[in-house]
Amino acid sequence: MTSSNPEIPLTRDWAEIELPDAWPDQIGWRQPRHLWRFAMGLFFGRRRVVELPPELPGAERLPRYLLQEFHHLPNGNYSKSVSRGYVSSFDRVMLGSMHQGRQQIAARLAGAARVLDVGCGGGQLAQALSAGSPEVWAVEPSPYLLQHAARRVPGLRCVQGVIEKTEFPDQFFDAAGACFVFHEIPPRHSDDALTELHRILKPGALLCLVEPSAQQLRQSFLQMARTHGWRGLYFRLLALRMFEPFVAAWQARDHAAWFAAHGFELIESVDPMPYQLFLARRRP
Ligand SMILES: C[S@@+](CC[C@H](N)C(=O)[O-])C[C@H]1O[C@@H](n2cnc3c(N)ncnc32)[C@H](O)[C@@H]1O
Repeated sequence: MTSSNPEIPLTRDWAEIELPDAWPDQIGWRQPRHLWRFAMGLFFGRRRVVELPPELPGAERLPRYLLQEFHHLPNGNYSKSVSRGYVSSFDRVMLGSMHQGRQQIAARLAGAARVLDVGCGGGQLAQALSAGSPEVWAVEPSPYLLQHAARRVPGLRCVQGVIEKTEFPDQFFDAAGACFVFHEIPPRHSDDALTELHRILKPGALLCLVEPSAQQLRQSFLQMARTHGWRGLYFRLLALRMFEPFVAAWQARDHAAWFAAHGFELIESVDPMPYQLFLARRRP
């Protein structure tokens, strides 16, 4: 618990909570069904609905759209073993650019007294934010990823759930950042998420999003090679290979109009492929 204010959601000690094994955690040579399923997902892109262990804390907060095997990860972000591998390999797969993207968010939000990392995953953005803010909160649907974040960033205030429906009081945060989160949310829910962020951010607060660059899907291999060399080819191929069911809808948006419709002003938009950064200010 972090506050005696009854309006502020309680945080639990996610670093210490004992989480139940999900099916990828139980894989062994004696379970060929699991091994087959693991291999099908990883190597042949065959996807199944994510199965949550019955006693998983916070399972009731997870909407159905999340229970898909994003990025072809076996059981998505919902197991100890695959989430551990994901946290350590995501940055390598992105050739170090995620580190740079998170540092850019942290630089823009530095000095905020209370800041939120939306969809914190393994906690790398929260860690970067904690260098510039005394109070960092994180919201993340996957208990397994939240546990990695809690262990990475001592003192991080961790809340399990989705950003479109939080229990934070109105105007609670001075700033918020999200790294590679909004393109994973279906359009109707990302509208709700921005409405919720408008509610929980103070007037004038900054919101900084880093999302996949639109160039990866819009440009041809030839254009990508001409503009970015072998990195362009690599990221174009990666974008085509990844299972990202809502990325096309995200990139089709008119982002300035989307922010404006939800009470934000887009004040910066840059695209240093493979990511795109948006900085918006909440209107009074
Ligand atoms: C590609 S990962 C990025 C993780 C982390 N932000 C980073 O920088 O590595 C996307 C994250 O968004 C989270 N996420 C997806 N939908 C969400 C939602 N509606 N609200 C909050 N987080 C969400 C996922 O659980 C996952 O941790």
